[in-house]
Amino acid sequence: MTNPVSLLYFRTAAVLLIVGMLFGIYMSASGNHAAAGAHAHLNLIGFVVMSVYGIFFGLNPGKSTGRLPKILWALNTIAAVVMFPALALLLNGYAGLEPLVAAASFLALGGACLFAVLLFQPAAA
Ligand code: HEM
Repeated sequence: MTNPVSLLYFRTAAVLLIVGMLFGIYMSASGNHAAAGAHAHLNLIGFVVMSVYGIFFGLNPGKSTGRLPKILWALNTIAAVVMFPALALLLNGYAGLEPLVAAASFLALGGACLFAVLLFQPAAA
C-alpha cells in the first residue's frame, strides 16, 4: 500500500505543478514574463522540493510517522501557496508585498531545517 504521508506530498506537488504550468502558459501567451521568478519558485518549492520530500518518506516509512512529517508538509505547502501570488505581485511592482514574500521564504527555510532534523534524528528502536 502507498505510504499515506508520501501520497499527501505527491498529491500536493501535482496540484501545485498544474498551477505552476498554467501560470507558465499564461506568461508565454501574454508575453509578460515579469513574474517568471514566482512561477519558478512555485514549481521548485511546490513541485520539486515537495516531491523530493515525498520520495524520502516513501523510501523511509519509519521516518514518516508522528507529527514532524505533517508539520514539514504544512510549512512547505503554506510557503509555496503564500509565496507564489505575493512574489508575482511584487515582481509586477507591488513593493509592499516584500514582507509577505520574506515570511514565506522563512517558512520554506523552516521546512528545510525540519527535514534536516528528521534526517539527523536517530532511528526509532
Ligand atoms: C507548462 C509548463 C511550463 C511553461 C509553459 C513554462 C513557461 C515559462 C516561461 C514563459 C518562463 C519565463 C522565461 C523568461 O522570461 O526567460 C519560465 C521561466 C522559468 N521556469 Fe518555467 N514553464 C513551465 C514549467 C516549469 C517547471 C515544471 C519548472 C521547474 C520545475 C520551471 C522552472 C522555471 C524556471 C527556473 C524559470 C526561470 C525563472 C527566472 O528566470 O526568474 N518551469 N517558464
